[in-house]
Amino acid sequence: MNLKKMESTSGLTAVMAAETAAATTSMHHPLNAPAKDAIVVNNLLKRFPGKHSVNALEEISLAIKEREFVSILGPSGCGKSTLLRIVAGLVPYNSGELLVNGLPVTAPRAEIGVVFQTSNMLPWLTVEKNIALGARLRKLPEAQMAPKIRDLIKMLGLSGFENNHPHELSGGMRQRASIGQILALDPTILLMDEPFGALDALTRDLLNVELLRIWQERMQTVLLVTHSIQEAVFLSDRVLVMSARPGRITHDIKIDLPRPRLPENIKGNPRYGQYIAEISKIMGVY
Ligand SMILES: Nc1ncnc2c1ncn2[C@@H]1O[C@H](COP(=O)(O)OP(=O)(O)OP(=O)(O)O)[C@@H](O)[C@H]1O
Ligand SMILES: [Mg+2]
Repeated sequence: MNLKKMESTSGLTAVMAAETAAATTSMHHPLNAPAKDAIVVNNLLKRFPGKHSVNALEEISLAIKEREFVSILGPSGCGKSTLLRIVAGLVPYNSGELLVNGLPVTAPRAEIGVVFQTSNMLPWLTVEKNIALGARLRKLPEAQMAPKIRDLIKMLGLSGFENNHPHELSGGMRQRASIGQILALDPTILLMDEPFGALDALTRDLLNVELLRIWQERMQTVLLVTHSIQEAVFLSDRVLVMSARPGRITHDIKIDLPRPRLPENIKGNPRYGQYIAEISKIMGVY
């Protein structure tokens, strides 16, 4: 992994790095009990051509282990969505390397699920039919799907709303159902681009807890783009911070907070506050 360009993070991270050297080392140099890399990006370049040709991403290198939860933070326009779409196989890149589960990504792949900020649900279908839609399009056997969709609806707290249409749901419920659409396809890699960005803070906090529960139950690899430093720290094993255009990853911060994470045992933890303060400083938000 080419992280030469990465600045070392100061202050808190340095102290914590010492405290957690063993854990960090085993994560980045997996000599014993190695977790495989789910996503590997090496020296990736993305240029959008045109009159005002712009390098959206430069020298992006990162490695995300199977079952790791990683968030990306960065100023608006730094290329977070572009990076996520590239990893999803939705957008081509100019040079560099991108491997998902060891194979180059050249097109969208079945094991990669993507959740966007706005719901992808079709307004004329019920919640249940929307959640089952992708699976139906992939022609998965009905008998196999039906119990799975029922379980998902229950897990997402949408029981009783199976036969509602999207406009009859709250924003948070719609977003949960959109996540259900993707989970129904059993992705091993979940890419999320500000999935809770349009929601109020309280709903967002609740859905963060839900997301962690889903992640713990299903243990996908998650790559989440967010604007919320709090959300990134609360959820993640690592937080990547990007710089403004051309987007580069400048910091890779290991979040050493205990799991399972619940607001009541994390939000009062001084380390939680310290991570937020440190990342805020890095991002120049205060
Ligand atoms: N299809 C496109 N054609 C040309 N330029 C694009 C295209 N998509 C994105 N860009 C440019 O690439 C840069 C990165 O955009 P991107 O949407 O990835 O940023 P972002 O970090 O997700 O921003 P935000 O936080 O506002 O969502 C921007 O300068 C944008 O103008
Ligand atoms: Mg974006």
